[in-house]
Amino acid sequence: MNFDIKKIVRPNIETLKAYSSAKDEYTGEANVLLDANENSLGSPLTKWYNRYPDPYQKKVKEKLAFIKQIKAEQILLGNGSDECIDILFRTFCEPGKDNIIVCPPTYPMYEVGANINNIEIKSAPLLPNFQLNVAHIEQLVNEHTKIIWICSPNNPTGNSIDRIDIETILNHFNGLVVIDEAYINFSKQKSFAQSLVDYPNLVVLQTLSKAWGLAGLRLGMCFADEVIIKYMNKVKAPYNINIVTQELALTALDEVGQVNDMIQHLVDMRIALAEVIKSMPLVQEVYPSDTNFLLVKIPNATQLYKYLLTQGIVVRDRSSLENCSDSLRITIGTEQENTQLVDAMAKWIDLTFSND
Ligand SMILES: Cc1ncc(COP(=O)(O)O)c(C=O)c1O
Repeated sequence: MNFDIKKIVRPNIETLKAYSSAKDEYTGEANVLLDANENSLGSPLTKWYNRYPDPYQKKVKEKLAFIKQIKAEQILLGNGSDECIDILFRTFCEPGKDNIIVCPPTYPMYEVGANINNIEIKSAPLLPNFQLNVAHIEQLVNEHTKIIWICSPNNPTGNSIDRIDIETILNHFNGLVVIDEAYINFSKQKSFAQSLVDYPNLVVLQTLSKAWGLAGLRLGMCFADEVIIKYMNKVKAPYNINIVTQELALTALDEVGQVNDMIQHLVDMRIALAEVIKSMPLVQEVYPSDTNFLLVKIPNATQLYKYLLTQGIVVRDRSSLENCSDSLRITIGTEQENTQLVDAMAKWIDLTFSND
């Protein structure tokens, strides 16, 4: 591998003079803050919300660095990992010139981000076993390929991507390899976050939206070499993570034990639900899952999807995606919600049989 970040970053970002916020320009404690045109009298809410948040979220990053066993300088936080995806495009992909590689079926935001930024999308569909087609990916790479997006465990298929395949790509590709680990806490696979020292071209995305149960807070994490993070810091909005999110994230990050209990409970329910759904007539496949959802293949999946809606149950119809015909993605709910789902599915299957 011959990775040179200077060849990857967009030239205008290399030379960009980033916005310097008031908080960038002094260090240490100050009592009289008359620099940022905030409302010095307070707010209708708790008083300290009148101040802008820490632009680099130092305390949250310190805690995350400890949990993940990496350096705080290797972390960028986003307003959800969706923001990290967008910042990656804007930092490294030149509109109208560069391209990225995606491996569908996968999380659609990589394509949406590419389209927003006018970046060509090259597609190397997953193999029928939902693993990478490494040879196809390598064929697609050209001098304008900036990012290969890999989602592991993958949404919507639920499986983890073979580690050796990911390492092959990391070793051979001179651009960035982004591994989206939104569901990693539900998997027995090891995160790539601890492999940053081995791969200067590795970017890992994680989020508090899934296992941590904090989708409403919007806190996504991007882990990468310090040089990559430095460029991304130039591009992000100065105060992208609000004070409330930073405070609540700090509190939540002390509760690793409680989160691990929830993960175990969700995994147990996933295993149980998979068994029940597998045993139902008509169901063709419940794919193995390393996540908090199941992908279920069943004839007339779209009709079942619509029936479930009439019962007040919303799942995700993924039937239109590559290699996913007649497939529903079902999030693991509470015990009661899972029972409601199973009862409604059983009723639809009965109705379908009686109509035949
Ligand atoms: C694979 C994957 N990445 C990222 C996200 C978005 O995460 P966030 O809520 O942090 O923006 C999702 C959400 O469904 C996802 O499935």
